Amino acid sequence: MELWHIRGGRRLSGSCRVQGSKNATLPILAASLALPRRSELEGVPGLRDVDAALEILRLLGCRICREGDSVQIDSGGLSGREVPRELMLKMRSSVIFMGALLARCGEARLSLPGGCRLGKRPIDLHLMALRALGAEIREEGDRIECRSRGLRGAQIRFPFPSVGATENAMLAACGAQGETRIFGAAREPEIVALQDYLCALGAEVSGAGTDCITVGAVRKTASAPFRIPSDRIAAATLACAVGSAGGSAELKNVDPAHFSTVLHFLNQAGCDIITKQRAVTVCAPGRLRAVGPVVTAPYPGFPTDAQPVLMAALLRAEGDSTITETIFENRYRQVEELRRLGAQIELQGRRALIHGVERLHAGRLRATDLRGGASMVVAALSADGETVVADEGHITRGYENLDGALARLGAEIRVENDG
Ligand code: EPZ
Repeated sequence: MELWHIRGGRRLSGSCRVQGSKNATLPILAASLALPRRSELEGVPGLRDVDAALEILRLLGCRICREGDSVQIDSGGLSGREVPRELMLKMRSSVIFMGALLARCGEARLSLPGGCRLGKRPIDLHLMALRALGAEIREEGDRIECRSRGLRGAQIRFPFPSVGATENAMLAACGAQGETRIFGAAREPEIVALQDYLCALGAEVSGAGTDCITVGAVRKTASAPFRIPSDRIAAATLACAVGSAGGSAELKNVDPAHFSTVLHFLNQAGCDIITKQRAVTVCAPGRLRAVGPVVTAPYPGFPTDAQPVLMAALLRAEGDSTITETIFENRYRQVEELRRLGAQIELQGRRALIHGVERLHAGRLRATDLRGGASMVVAALSADGETVVADEGHITRGYENLDGALARLGAEIRVENDG
């Protein structure tokens, strides 16, 4: 258990560098085994989810060498076909190994994935896409067995732009004979990163960033180093932390366009936002103004992953803000904990109404999930006194040294490991 001690009331100032993207790294690690290549990744964040993905790769027979934020992967000696249940349960994106294994060896045995509990998270769209490519899939309890006697290119139509299902379809299509077209694809920057990486491995993939992706033939190529893009949700979290605490901070190593919807609402709330090509400065007044309506949506809409941290920044805003969560059915688990700080949040189904209060007070909270945990840290920065957030490791699944980044900006924060 980690105990995050945060004494609120310190304005933030200075600059910090944003980590590499978790949600780009995980599918890219899975992709590294789709084709028998060597690759070298740079800017890989040190996260528990990344550790779990590397453990899966090792277990399947890949050679991994990790030094700081660079990871070399040689998937030439792949021998396994099965991801054990305990590793599947560590994170949601373990399910992407299904498409990668099918592409590479026509066989994959896994179980249903774990990950943050945000309501129902079915994998029907993943299975539909893999079946369209010719995979035979048997589900028994939580076990899934996939086989194919040669995947064939196909036209896949998603009724909803699922990020993970799009990634699984892209990976499996790399092992198919003939061209695949994915319609209704997710358009997130992480999908573009996956396309760029697959192309660096020799695959012919185009269209990522639009709703139609084409996957064609695979050529042999020399391996090339690949840099993981920066984490737009970690950037949004730090931007909201400045909004919550007040002050001014420069976030480096970011692509402002990738979290422009979050910056838009911080601006509406009274923050000055100065963007450069690879940096953003957020200058926040002592108290924000209410904003809304904020409605989460697939990219390029407002990201569901930034919803809890923006909510935290708005708790002390003047007036009433509204947020509507449309992606996950249960992504307000942080609300009950935030109320312990004196926050006034009303939940009406998928809509949250935040009545801004003048002051928040310290409290003892328990992190409910990754972004929910981060939202508690963000809220505590503006609460009077010392808040303690007890966390069973949710936050470090996705944030690399969040406490260090906030401390660098002047926050009074320390993390104690309670065994
Ligand atoms: C990815 O999850 C991210 N995870 C999530 O980030 C993010 O919240 C989500 O995309 C949406 O942006 C990773 O990239 C590792 P989806 P994923 O499939 O792929 C429904 C974080 O905090 N759905 O786009 O699981 C599903 O139930 C995490 O970093 C189906 O119905 O998201 C959900 O309501 C949390 N059937 C919606 O689609 C399916 O087969 C969006 O899910 C698949 C999804």
